[in-house]
Amino acid sequence: MNTITAVHAADARLLARSQGQETAAAALAVEDLASVGSAPAVRLPSGLGEVDRVLGGGLPAGGVVLIGGEPGIGKSTLLAQIAGAVALTAPVLYVTAEESVEQVRARCVRLGVTATGLRLAAAVDAEAVAGALTGGAYRLVVVDSIQLMQRTGTEGEAGSVAQVRGCAALLVEAAKRGGTALVLVGHVTKDGTLAGPRLLEHLVDTVLAFEGDRYADLRVLRAVKNRFGATSEIGLLRMGGQGLIEVPDATGFFLADRAADVPGSCVVPTIEGNRCLLVEVQALVNPTEAPQPQRRVSGLDPNRVAMVLAVLSRRLRLPLGGCDVFINATGGARLSEPAADLAIALAVASAWREVAVPADVVAVGEVGLGGELRPAARYELRASEARRLGFQRLIGPGAGTGRGRLVVDRLAEAIERAFG
Ligand code: TYD
Ligand code: MG
Repeated sequence: MNTITAVHAADARLLARSQGQETAAAALAVEDLASVGSAPAVRLPSGLGEVDRVLGGGLPAGGVVLIGGEPGIGKSTLLAQIAGAVALTAPVLYVTAEESVEQVRARCVRLGVTATGLRLAAAVDAEAVAGALTGGAYRLVVVDSIQLMQRTGTEGEAGSVAQVRGCAALLVEAAKRGGTALVLVGHVTKDGTLAGPRLLEHLVDTVLAFEGDRYADLRVLRAVKNRFGATSEIGLLRMGGQGLIEVPDATGFFLADRAADVPGSCVVPTIEGNRCLLVEVQALVNPTEAPQPQRRVSGLDPNRVAMVLAVLSRRLRLPLGGCDVFINATGGARLSEPAADLAIALAVASAWREVAVPADVVAVGEVGLGGELRPAARYELRASEARRLGFQRLIGPGAGTGRGRLVVDRLAEAIERAFG
């Protein structure tokens, strides 16, 4: 008997549970695959084409963008400009938690931002900002910075993990509910730990890194994560006396200060997102008696450089074991694609021989461990951009039609052709 009632009770519980689930399922918002939009329909142009490029076409309504960067790099400047541009056509709120509204206003004056649609508030209370996000009075809200926001009821001091997370979660939810675009500024410490931003990556739609040398004027905006676009695009800006301006012809930007006919240099047409940038790789090879020769790499992947140096030593008998080697991508560029291998190899060979790679040569291709070369993707785009900027010869494996193409399959052959 006992067993039978027990079974009945279990059945009843099961039934109740399945009924509960049915009710819950009815409340589930279900959409047809075909009718679901893949990207937010409404985008606010930022006023800077380079920024829109990285965002994948402007700030999405209800989307949350986190911009991380070291102090002093220009985050507040960039956001004052964006807020000013959006405010020309839509109401914008700029919340400053670090400065006074007078300081923000002074920056806006310097930047020529005069839009009447731009409202400023000095506040640290996340609940108040959440109210502004859901209230529907603004199309865009900027919070500078998330580390200084505070939320009552959440433990910890401002800037602590619990506070930063709690405030961000509250603001993200409010932005979604209100359909308001939200930009959060996050400080990154000098050692690159992305203290705040890393913590928030999963909460926001887009994470942008704003980078550059504080003492030089180039600024690079990169998408680290982007739910609404690609992460491979970069935006190039310059910090000037009146704020950030777009770099007009990015393709040749990194070659601006190039001295041609100097040994130890080779240009590579590299691909970043959808465009081709020409970047110079420089090498210095210096014989040394030291038991541990130095290897210093900047702007390139140290693992790829080590591999290319090993191939040069082993397959081409370059005695690099007794030399210090320094390698740079110039102008603050960063090269990570394997297609830069050949330019690295030619720059090192050129430095070793003390013979310049001719000024009208660019090189592109991946170097294999056997000294073989592999073609790079987007070869036609690279070739046409190099030609447009006046380079007559392209050395590398790949398609051989086209004037000035020196098609080579092996590293040894590439070096012969470059200097021959
Ligand atoms: P800022 O935007 O305050 O940096 P962040 O918010 O990332 O800390 O900008 C800092 C630097 O930019 C500061 O040293 C002054 C300089 N700057 C310019 O060179 N031109 C300008 O038009 C502005 C507004 C700032
Ligand atoms: Mg700032």
